[in-house]
Amino acid sequence: MAEALIWITGGSSGIGRAMVETVPFSSATVINISRSPCPGVVNLSLDLSDPLSWGKVACSFEREMLSHDGSTVILVHAAATVQPVCFAEDAEHLEAVRSVLLNSAVPQVLGSAFLSATRGRPNLKRVAIFLSSGAASHPYEGWSFYGAGKASIEQWVRTTGAEQRMRGGALLLAVAPGVVDTPMQQAARSAKAENFPQRERFVELHATGQLTDPNSVARRIWSLLYANYPSGSILDLRRL
Ligand SMILES: NC(=O)c1ccc[n+]([C@@H]2O[C@H](COP(=O)([O-])OP(=O)(O)OC[C@H]3O[C@@H](n4cnc5c(N)ncnc54)[C@H](OP(=O)(O)O)[C@@H]3O)[C@@H](O)[C@H]2O)c1
Repeated sequence: MAEALIWITGGSSGIGRAMVETVPFSSATVINISRSPCPGVVNLSLDLSDPLSWGKVACSFEREMLSHDGSTVILVHAAATVQPVCFAEDAEHLEAVRSVLLNSAVPQVLGSAFLSATRGRPNLKRVAIFLSSGAASHPYEGWSFYGAGKASIEQWVRTTGAEQRMRGGALLLAVAPGVVDTPMQQAARSAKAENFPQRERFVELHATGQLTDPNSVARRIWSLLYANYPSGSILDLRRL
């Protein structure tokens, strides 16, 4: 019997991959959801910017819950994209649509499906952690779709967390991880300055060794499971 059943979106890379590698349970079933696989875990290979994939994730939530008799279920939502990196008026139509679907719609739809599939078991610890960003509240020119996605995550977590507090239900957290050394940061540094005017700031942070290591960030995120933050909390690892 696995103690924990854990879904991680974006477990193929960066922070999501580090979350897979630092799971803090002695026995856990870990399911990665991304387009490319993560070694050593169950993989649901899906493009989450395609709405047809969302029902498949919801089916996985329902199916796995039928046989799970451990103490804990967790959703970590790390999948996201900074693309298209450009001013909104320059965005290519389909790229804008895909970004809005992945960054804004997926966390809400999958978060809701997770809560629905896991409810009704009084002794089950239910946790959903959503990766957010300073871009949720600070305008980075060229990241309008990404920043709006993170802002929508935070308001969804605030509101749904308040609902869950009323019912004594799941713990929902949105967590901004700081500036972490991942392929997403490479994408920020390789953007054209005309499309992303604050690019130099990220180049400088990298050049001066100020990016944090994904595994240490992942361990800090996992430690939030035991920190007693109220459901609906919006956290920034740089300020904890
Ligand atoms: N790195 C930072 O400094 C930083 C700062 C603030 C917030 N964050 C947040 O932390 C989270 C992880 O970021 P990261 O830096 O680790 O990024 P990353 O290395 O680029 O990883 C992004 C992950 O998202 C998955 N993904 C992207 N598009 C997808 C799609 N259409 N369908 C399914 N999965 C998709 C990727 O998997 P596939 O390509 O295999 O599909 C990958 O596993 C993100 O939510 C990001 O916004 C990161």
